[in-house]
Amino acid sequence: MVGKKLAVVGTGYVGLVAGACFAKIGHDVICVDIDADRIEILQKGGIPIYEPGLETLVHEGVAAGRLKFTTKIADAAPCDAAFIAVGTPPRKSDGAADLSFVYDCARELAAILKPGAVIVDKSTVPVGTGDTVERIVRKTRPDVPIYVASNPEFLREGSAIIDFLEPDRIVIGCSDKAAEDILAAVYAPLVDKGHRLIKTKRRSAELIKYASNAFLATKITFVNEMADLCEAVDADIAEVALGMGTDSRIGPQFLQAGPGYGGSCFPKDTLALVRTAQEFGVSLRIVEQTVTANNARKRRMAQKVRHILHGNVEGKKIAVLGLTFKADTDDMRASPSIPMIELLQNAGAKVHAYDPEGIEQAKMVLTDVTYHLDPYQCAQDADAVIIMTDWESIRHIDLAKLASVMRSHVLIDLRRVYPPEEAAKHGFTIETIGRTGLEPSPISEFEPHFMHSDLNVHTRQAEEQTA
Ligand code: UDX
Repeated sequence: MVGKKLAVVGTGYVGLVAGACFAKIGHDVICVDIDADRIEILQKGGIPIYEPGLETLVHEGVAAGRLKFTTKIADAAPCDAAFIAVGTPPRKSDGAADLSFVYDCARELAAILKPGAVIVDKSTVPVGTGDTVERIVRKTRPDVPIYVASNPEFLREGSAIIDFLEPDRIVIGCSDKAAEDILAAVYAPLVDKGHRLIKTKRRSAELIKYASNAFLATKITFVNEMADLCEAVDADIAEVALGMGTDSRIGPQFLQAGPGYGGSCFPKDTLALVRTAQEFGVSLRIVEQTVTANNARKRRMAQKVRHILHGNVEGKKIAVLGLTFKADTDDMRASPSIPMIELLQNAGAKVHAYDPEGIEQAKMVLTDVTYHLDPYQCAQDADAVIIMTDWESIRHIDLAKLASVMRSHVLIDLRRVYPPEEAAKHGFTIETIGRTGLEPSPISEFEPHFMHSDLNVHTRQAEEQTA
């Protein structure tokens, strides 16, 4: 295979992973970013983000002479394809994706790329963005054929490299055969290994990304609501999820009940999809409810803590283990730990927190938290420990040691890391999700509290209570 010349603009999670992986599969890659500090770190062999395996891959690419970093977009001029991987943060006003970085980038690329090159959107952008980008390109270089395509990413933080190199599918949305051929050649090394390439209309590709993320967010929210029901009827969500997930039509993944989904994608993409649908006069009631239910859940988790501490957290020392929105990332964006900590602080608690990678980012969004790099130090003299993220180091905590340093043995396990039976052996009172405590409630307590016709009222009341 003859490697292509590629540019990736934006060296965030998506851009840097994509750049390093493109180099790995044999292409010549130049990564561009306007952030000079970031580029300097990369040029000196540093990695500005935490992503397992990325450092090795970047070093390999650089050593092979196939991966370079620059602040000058002009360096992308000889490329066959230039991938836009810049941020699309939600606009504060309405939650819609802010596309100004994407458009600026397209304008600058259109001005310098060679005839026949393709500008590929990898950033998550609403349907129709490719059409706007194409108009920008035509206006900037009316005389030169430069194509525009969509190639959404499906990378999970923490396993982004494996997701890139061993994808379930690669989606390319092109409106020109020439662009499709270039992208097919870019991904040929992965397709040759048996990974599926799906060619679609550009608008379909744009929507596939949002539809996938909204569906996964809904799947998690569904299982979280089932977890609430399990608590009420003395069932166990792990068993229910196992029984559901073994139906091949449902599948076992993304059925892990937790404190609510967070991260850089699901919260932002579900909101942006709802806004897009509204603009086109289409109602996406399920996605809207997912957004509402997930926000309410994150707040409701703090009530669990207050409940187990008999409604009073004033002056109590609470140790939060895990801050990031999930394990194996330093990302704090929309992490359920943020509303948890803020609500506990508002109720008068003193919060201490442990996280192996997230503390620097946590400092930018939280105040008055005492941070620790050791979970036992964090839990010293604590009145309660809350498990927010299932880092490997948290999964392997020695419960006897934890109990020995705490003032009061209360454990709130929102990731179901510890079986309550195990925690009880060490004297812990445990509150978890998706199952009752060790003493199942008598069956007579399970009288339904409302009739089906009351459902709307009941749901509204529940929401008002948690708001
Ligand atoms: C997600 C998508 O998975 C990825 O395809 C997309 O491109 C970017 O967004 P990411 O945000 O990195 O990836 O994390 P993911 O592993 O999907 O988890 C998102 C959130 O859902 C986390 O808060 C996680 O804790 C939560 N989650 C996930 C659950 O609560 N239960 C699950 O079963 C799975």
